[in-house]
Amino acid sequence: MCGIVGYIGSKKASPILINGLLKLEYRGYDSAGLSTIENNSICVKKNKGRVNNLYDLEGINDLCGTVGIAHTRWATHGKPSKQNSHPHLDNSKTFSVVHNGIIENYHELREFLTKKGYHFLSETDTEVIPNLIHYYFNKNINDSNNFLKAVSLACSDLKGSFAIEVISYLFPNNMIVAKKDSPLVIGVGNNENYIASDIPAILSYSKSFYLLEDGDIALLSKNDVKFYNCSLEELKKEIKNIDWNASSAEKNGYEDYMLKEIHEQPTAIRETIGACLKDNEKVCFDDFNISFKDLSKINKIYIVACGTAMHAGLACKSTFETLCKIDTTVDIASEFRYRNPIINNNTFCIFVSQSGETADTLAALKLAKQHGAKTLAITNVIGSSISREADYNLYTHAGPEIAVASTKAYTSQIVLLTLVAICFAEILNSCSEDILNDLKKELLLIPRKVSSILKNIEPIKDFADSVYKEHDMFFLGRGFDYNVAQEASLKLKEISYIHSDSYAAGELKHGPIALIEKGVTVIGIITDPSLMLKSISNLEEVITRGAKTFIVTNQDIDNSDFNMIYKIPKTNILLSSILSIVPLQLFAYFISKAKGLDVDKPRNLAKSVTVE
Ligand code: M6R
Repeated sequence: MCGIVGYIGSKKASPILINGLLKLEYRGYDSAGLSTIENNSICVKKNKGRVNNLYDLEGINDLCGTVGIAHTRWATHGKPSKQNSHPHLDNSKTFSVVHNGIIENYHELREFLTKKGYHFLSETDTEVIPNLIHYYFNKNINDSNNFLKAVSLACSDLKGSFAIEVISYLFPNNMIVAKKDSPLVIGVGNNENYIASDIPAILSYSKSFYLLEDGDIALLSKNDVKFYNCSLEELKKEIKNIDWNASSAEKNGYEDYMLKEIHEQPTAIRETIGACLKDNEKVCFDDFNISFKDLSKINKIYIVACGTAMHAGLACKSTFETLCKIDTTVDIASEFRYRNPIINNNTFCIFVSQSGETADTLAALKLAKQHGAKTLAITNVIGSSISREADYNLYTHAGPEIAVASTKAYTSQIVLLTLVAICFAEILNSCSEDILNDLKKELLLIPRKVSSILKNIEPIKDFADSVYKEHDMFFLGRGFDYNVAQEASLKLKEISYIHSDSYAAGELKHGPIALIEKGVTVIGIITDPSLMLKSISNLEEVITRGAKTFIVTNQDIDNSDFNMIYKIPKTNILLSSILSIVPLQLFAYFISKAKGLDVDKPRNLAKSVTVE
């Protein structure tokens, strides 16, 4: 769960590398480093902490090399320190390597190399890689292809996940990259090539990309890229042109990416609906066609994901059950993959992931395929590992999401899942046309309704400013509102470091109410008219015990016992989560700002969780 960048061309590499790393900091920011080839040797500059610290390193501005690799780290093996920072060198300082992923058999490899006389300077799993390359390089010293051969032999010894970049002063005009279960892309320029963990990091340099598959090894020079499989047979690869706007990956005047991304939700939702939904027509996806024959066999749907993406699944479970009349279970990917779920060829599994790279979700997808399920990936990153693995593939069009706390991806995922549920219901004829037409009509109004919430953020900021020093908060709701409570609670804890919990409001009296005392903040979500009175009475119970209450509702609640009532527009209940989460995303944001925290890069977290 780190970010890697590489450059090979005629320009000074180091500024390009640092610029790329800054865009990848969301993947980890425990340490950063780079190496370039300088006058027949490899120069390494690295340190603990943020990428910006690289600018303070002595000699960083004197680097002139035009070939280089760089890394921003989220520590897995070994504490954040200069010693454990990447790049790592082999003992002879011939090869320099950056690595994203986890080498599961590094103990074995370390032992093997130690017996061969190698020693290790760091606690990382990565340091075995340059030394293994050196070992195989020397073993094949008379082979004309020995650099490539050494890297491929080293890769075949590695168990686990990796995206690596390798340079050597012996081959100053080359770089080798390889990947398995960790993302890597190559951006093609004019007599230059850029490498990164994701497309936005190098989007300002290139719009044409090679997306590497697991097992691929690429040998780069400034004007060529050759691809090989692990047996070093040459492969053909197609270039993909990406039409994302580089400025859409920048802050565009907002103080933080999270705030910008919250405000981008109307556009993200509109783009996700795109051309799939037109007035009075059936939902239709360009690249996803499933027949009545295939769909009518399905008797079980799983929606599998992690974190916020899993919460988007929860928000849509009832939608699938109500519209398609198919039993639907939402599962946490890391649980699903180890609990022997009942899967067969009558099962349809939907995997939801913003990054498309989450290790547990990818493993769960592979498991579902092995057991014969039909699989659909819903991701936000074109060509991501999850999207390439699934039978069917749909994209949310939220644009690059940089802030670690997911916002626009969540609402776009709910929109796309809802469209899939409508599409299935239309194919199966499992729901009345009137219900579906009303839902589709409402869906088209959602972007405008989100915009109207975004025009009224002051009251949310005021309430956040009045409670930001608290240590515990509780989110309560019933039905769809409980799902939103779960997402709102996650949002708050990840960026404000305030302990928070979410409960189905009816569960309160079965235990959690013991935690309510004078001054505790309780946030209630009430959007389902049929459950309104029950939710109000649960909230009255916490008021009686001294809680401060903030209510997000689309109902006309006239109750002066609540400290604050924030009104959102009414909509179809199946879509209510998309509207009710928005003020709560802002609530978490303003609390984090009031506490003076780094909203976009919360401690201990990374945007893309490519390790288990
Ligand atoms: O990229 P993914 O959607 O697969 O990521 C899943 C979770 O790691 C992610 O949603 C995480 O929970 C976010 N930090 C929440 O804001």
